[in-house]
Amino acid sequence: MSTLSPVVTASNERKKVTTHAFQQKKPRGEILTMLTAYDYPTALALDRAGIDAILVGDSLGMVVLGYQNTLPVTMEAMLHHCRAVARGARAALLIGDMPFMSYQASIEEAIRNAGRFLQEGGMEAVKLEGGRERAETVRAIVAAGIPVMGHLGLTPQSVNQLGGFRPQGRTAEAAQRLLEDALLLEEAGCFSLVLESVPARLAELVSRRLSIPTIGIGAGMGCDGQVLVTHDLLGLFDRFTPKFVKRYADLHAEMQRAFGEYIADVTARRFPDAEHSVEMPDEEWEALLSGLDGRGPSQGLN
Ligand code: KIV
Repeated sequence: MSTLSPVVTASNERKKVTTHAFQQKKPRGEILTMLTAYDYPTALALDRAGIDAILVGDSLGMVVLGYQNTLPVTMEAMLHHCRAVARGARAALLIGDMPFMSYQASIEEAIRNAGRFLQEGGMEAVKLEGGRERAETVRAIVAAGIPVMGHLGLTPQSVNQLGGFRPQGRTAEAAQRLLEDALLLEEAGCFSLVLESVPARLAELVSRRLSIPTIGIGAGMGCDGQVLVTHDLLGLFDRFTPKFVKRYADLHAEMQRAFGEYIADVTARRFPDAEHSVEMPDEEWEALLSGLDGRGPSQGLN
């Protein structure tokens, strides 16, 4: 039986997923599962459900903070949400997404910021976007003892260069370049690689050529694992849903329904009822009233 499958042990604890254990699934032909989280309750639920890895993605900027893209997300925002996730998850491998301009300006800054994810954010690995142009940065971060997950294909931090959130690697030339980038990132020391919005057969080819696990999002069935943005999967992000997302719930509609019922209950004075109110013993109440010097409760309590 796999050490990574969502087995509940006698002590009700799953075994901790390390980067090593994460990688070991590939040669065993076992699929890897990853989802994003940005807060404590989501991390708790994912961990209890048996997820292999939790990514605190910079998708935070869009699905939680309401920005148009991921570019405004800062290190401080990422670390704040990483800490919340780390408090909720016990077994899942925790990966922090390095935000725009936290690793591009210099290799030294990249190492320091990657280190902050482990030291201040409670993460166990970082993810960063880009191919050959990031190979030296990856090598330096890994040399500092920090596991790095790569990210190729649709790299949202380059949205302005890519001309929008659109699939990548669809020409022979672009596909060849992506394959080369993947091999370079593996050689630089990445322990795993996200492939986002690339043709399924290209993702499968890359996955076969690499010995590190690939994690696909909009990249078909041939990857070694799958990831989605949790808010897309839950139907919590209502602005748009990428074609490759499968919705497992419609929580935005469910939230709106619950909020509507609450407003109706309060407006109609049905809530809070006795069941949802706090009481005090009668004798204490009587003592209070008698101490109010014969004045009624409404006169004495202001
Ligand atoms: O930020 C994010 O959530 C990601 C995933 C889409 C892989 O990078």
